[in-house]
Order: sequence, then structure tokens, then C-alpha cells
Amino acid sequence: MDKKPITVLFGSMTGNAEDLAERTFERLKKEGYQVTLENLDTFETDKLADLQRAVVVISTWGEGDPPDESEDFCYALYDGKTPNLAHLEYCVLALGDSSYDEFCGCGRKVDESFAKQGAKSFLPRKEVDVDFDDDYATWIESLVSRLAR
Ligand SMILES: Cc1cc2nc3c(=O)[nH]c(=O)nc-3n(C[C@H](O)[C@H](O)[C@H](O)COP(=O)(O)O)c2cc1C
Repeated sequence: MDKKPITVLFGSMTGNAEDLAERTFERLKKEGYQVTLENLDTFETDKLADLQRAVVVISTWGEGDPPDESEDFCYALYDGKTPNLAHLEYCVLALGDSSYDEFCGCGRKVDESFAKQGAKSFLPRKEVDVDFDDDYATWIESLVSRLAR
């Protein structure tokens, strides 16, 4: 893939998704990409019009719900209140806990909503459980190698 600028968007309550987003940001920077890190707490769906390639790292709360402060972004996205996203390439890293019924429900809904608005997934959604270190290590390598192709 070409070296389009990448925006890492994260939604987090207790810091796990934020930590993985920061690690992803640092790694992609090291790989030579122009990368920006954005917290979904303050990111509005209108701004998706300006992005070319997005990596979303988001956890799930409640019963399949977004992290509290990312609710505005997620509910607007679920409701299709976005610009047309046909220009956008994206992938999702979803954090959750498999003891909940709606395992990684928020990441799944974000993924489905992006696709519904016309965005193109460039890497299948990865769902990781509470013990995410090994899965993250594998995922970041697959992201880097997909971007390099
Ligand atoms: C009260 C509570 C509700 C949760 N609900 C869900 C859920 O519905 N589905 C899920 O997959 N994980 C759920 N989780 C697990 C979190 O998504 C998981 O701990 C995640 O790593 C938190 O990431 P964060 O620190 O970035 O918010 C829940 C955790 C708590 C404490």
C-alpha cells in the first residue's frame, strides 16, 4: 500500500485501548508513516472527511457499549451521521472481555458502521481479550506488513 497518512483513533476508559493506540502510533511512526493520534472523546464524525487511512483502537463497556466519553462519536457513527466515507481505508482493533455476552461489541459496531458508510477495511477486525499482549504483538505485525504491501 502507499504511504498515505494514518490516523490512530482510540476510545478507552481505563487506559488499555489508549496504551495500545499509543504503541501503535509509535510503531507506525518508526516505520516512516505520517501518523496522528486522536482521542475519540473529542473527535467529531465530521472530521472523518479529512482522513485517508484510520486505525481504530476501542474497548467495550456496559453491555456492548462504547467507552463513556466516546459515546457521542460512536452513536453518531452508528446512526450514519457522518460524511460519505468512500475515501476512507480503515481497520479496527477491538478490546473486550470474553466473559461478557457482547464481546467486543463496540469495536464490531464501529467496524460495521464504517463499512456501511462506504469505508474500505484494509485489515480484518481483530478482537482481543483481557490478556491481550500476545494478540496485540501478532496484530501489530500484521498491520505493518499489510501497510507495506
Ligand atoms: C463494567 C464493565 C463492563 C464491560 N463490558 C464489556 C462488554 O460488554 N463487552 C466486552 O467485550 N468487554 C467488556 N468489558 C471489558 C473491557 O472492554 C476491557 O476490560 C478492556 O480492556 C478495557 O479497555 P479500556 O481500558 O481501554 O477501556 C467491560 C468491563 C467492565 C469493567
